[in-house]
Amino acid sequence: MIIGSKLYYHDEVDSTNEYAKRILNEATDGTVVLADIQTAGKGRIDRQWYSPEGGLYISIILFTEKPLLIPVLAAVAICETFNNNYDILLGIKWPNDILLNDKKIAGVLVEVVDAALILGIGINLNIQEFPEELEKNASSIFLETKKKLDKMMVFNDLCREIDNDYQMLKDNKTNELLQKWRNYTIMFGKTVQIETPERKVKGRAIDIAGNGALVVVLPDGKIDKVLAGDCLIIKETKL
Ligand code: BTN
Repeated sequence: MIIGSKLYYHDEVDSTNEYAKRILNEATDGTVVLADIQTAGKGRIDRQWYSPEGGLYISIILFTEKPLLIPVLAAVAICETFNNNYDILLGIKWPNDILLNDKKIAGVLVEVVDAALILGIGINLNIQEFPEELEKNASSIFLETKKKLDKMMVFNDLCREIDNDYQMLKDNKTNELLQKWRNYTIMFGKTVQIETPERKVKGRAIDIAGNGALVVVLPDGKIDKVLAGDCLIIKETKL
């Protein structure tokens, strides 16, 4: 198993992604940074990631020639970790939010530094409460299921699932990976609004493309593929 074959474990860091950047020159493919607390946890689009004790915060350094599907791989691996080992069914909201009972319980932040890709994963595992401003949209596995899971066990299970899926990517089994994503996603049939730095797209989500782009049907019936952006579900019911 290459994921976690080299491990840096700390009680507290600023951000495991930032720490990973600082140790890049001594890292091998699959090196993991794990921390109990982050004092400056980072989310996507310059947001903060609430990172108190009880959460699982990891960054994995990958040297891969296939970076596009790494966020897909991460989302699938998180869902498989909880589905296969703890009987907890999570859902994927594109691009890579992980939901339970419509609340966000995990997120993925991928950063590229030189030849390396830093895959940051934050899971709200045993967090018991959230600040008021996050409460509406965020929750934890513990709050939603009343199950307090052993963090190191979940960590090991997650590394194993990522390792499996990373191998799948290396073996060019991208269709299998995308099919797993399709099985876990909550997106299909929903009307979404996606904001990218360049444009705003509104349409009905129908599929994921081979490069991880969301495939949407526009109001005029045309098909569009959106590679990245901030996605809002504006109509929940299946059309
Ligand atoms: C998101 O906005 O959904 C992405 C959140 C990613 C959070 C994780 S926690 C471990 C790693 N270190 C960070 O600073 N961020 C990522």
